[in-house]
Amino acid sequence: MIPQHFIDELLARTDIVEVINGRVTLKKQGREYAACCPFHGEKTPSFFVSPTKQFYHCFGCGAHGTAITFLMEHDNLSFPEAIEELARLAGMEVPREQGTGERAEDHRPLYDALEAAAEHYVRALRHSHEAVDYLKKRGLTGEIARDFRLGFAEDRWDGLISTLSPRFDDKTLIEAGLAIRKEGGQVYDRFRGRIMFPIRDTRGRVIGFGGRILGQGEPKYLNSPETPVFHKGQQLYGLFEARKAATRLEQLLVVEGYMDVIALAQHGITHAVATLGTSTTRDHLERLFRVVPRLVFCFDGDAAGRKAAWRALEQALPVMRDGREAAFLFLPEGEDPDTLVRTLGAEGFREREATAQALSDTFLDGLKARYDAHTREGRAPAGARKARNSSGPCPEGLLKTQLVNDLARLCAVSPEQFARQTEAPRRPRPAAAERGRSARSAARAKAPQPPGRNAWP
Ligand code: CTP
Ligand code: MN
Repeated sequence: MIPQHFIDELLARTDIVEVINGRVTLKKQGREYAACCPFHGEKTPSFFVSPTKQFYHCFGCGAHGTAITFLMEHDNLSFPEAIEELARLAGMEVPREQGTGERAEDHRPLYDALEAAAEHYVRALRHSHEAVDYLKKRGLTGEIARDFRLGFAEDRWDGLISTLSPRFDDKTLIEAGLAIRKEGGQVYDRFRGRIMFPIRDTRGRVIGFGGRILGQGEPKYLNSPETPVFHKGQQLYGLFEARKAATRLEQLLVVEGYMDVIALAQHGITHAVATLGTSTTRDHLERLFRVVPRLVFCFDGDAAGRKAAWRALEQALPVMRDGREAAFLFLPEGEDPDTLVRTLGAEGFREREATAQALSDTFLDGLKARYDAHTREGRAPAGARKARNSSGPCPEGLLKTQLVNDLARLCAVSPEQFARQTEAPRRPRPAAAERGRSARSAARAKAPQPPGRNAWP
């Protein structure tokens, strides 16, 4: 818990122009400073910083806030992290109130243990011919292994524990997700006989691991469990590395696997990130859109891939405010980015990446696949469905307007007619009977239902 009076004082002592100018090149313009907005792509400046009011505002995408929000959005920091950074710049020490909020220093031993484990696994990799051969066979160089701090967990019950135990007690190793306690009370290594992928947070701290079995075996991948410092639904593998590799990131490629991220990086495509064996969550998307204005999602071209893409699209729609872009790249069946970049090479892969389908097209194609767009009857339920979800999750803005126009065209009505239809359920007192009737008639039309209401703009 950081006391409010400290935050006030910190902001009073901070100059927002100085904070932003280190990250974006500002030009004096009258009493304010202007720049091309770092939160969305643009060629003429609509991002303004006011030294008197101590805030920034973008007339293009609506981003605005204080030095704290700027650091959170631009550097992808949490609130306490942004405060820490500003305090460091101002030469102030952050006081902490005792409270229920978690305190960063409480996790110190966990971060230390995870870092020590990463070092141990890297050392163990150097001593294992088998592991090094495996990585070489997969086309990786020592350089890339170093950049991603790849390691190896020996096939022993105590490879890690025996190295770390003088420094870290069992409780810490278990809490960090590195060790497991047997019923008899004995403690053993969680990761054994696996290539180790350290997962780092945006500051570069190791927060967890993914481990791939050498060759065949089950499970193929084993991940750290949820711990106080590791939350799968929020973290993205490779984000730290991607930011480090680029002076300025324009877009990120969201892939499925650790090896996809690494194989792409091996070919010089360093802007890939992967979710950690989970599907894409809204948290992931918010996090990624704080770093770049454009995301390209990679999916298999098969039915399962299309389904996964639709799921991602449903998560993405609610966060698609203007200035943000998402696109979908479908890969040939049986290929993943790892295999594809090895056959196509970097240039070939980039060319394919450039053909990614815009979210709005994926959306409309998905709808067309669900409704028969060639008949009036087929189109009608789509319109009805849309009507019931007229205040759907896509934020108001140009994208939504265009989607609604496209939907109108899809239903072969004018946008005005369409708007009138979609407004119907929002009339002050919709008669219950009428609602019942339309629901029944929709049911009678026996339209295949889209996977969720959320899919609608
Ligand atoms: N995954 C997981 N647990 C598994 C299998 C997969 O967590 N048992 C996650 C991992 O993050 C993995 C991703 O899902 O990187 C993709 O899995 P998969 O397609 O099976 O593997 P690949 O990434 O193709 O791995 P490889 O090329 O090493 O076979
Ligand atoms: Mn693979």
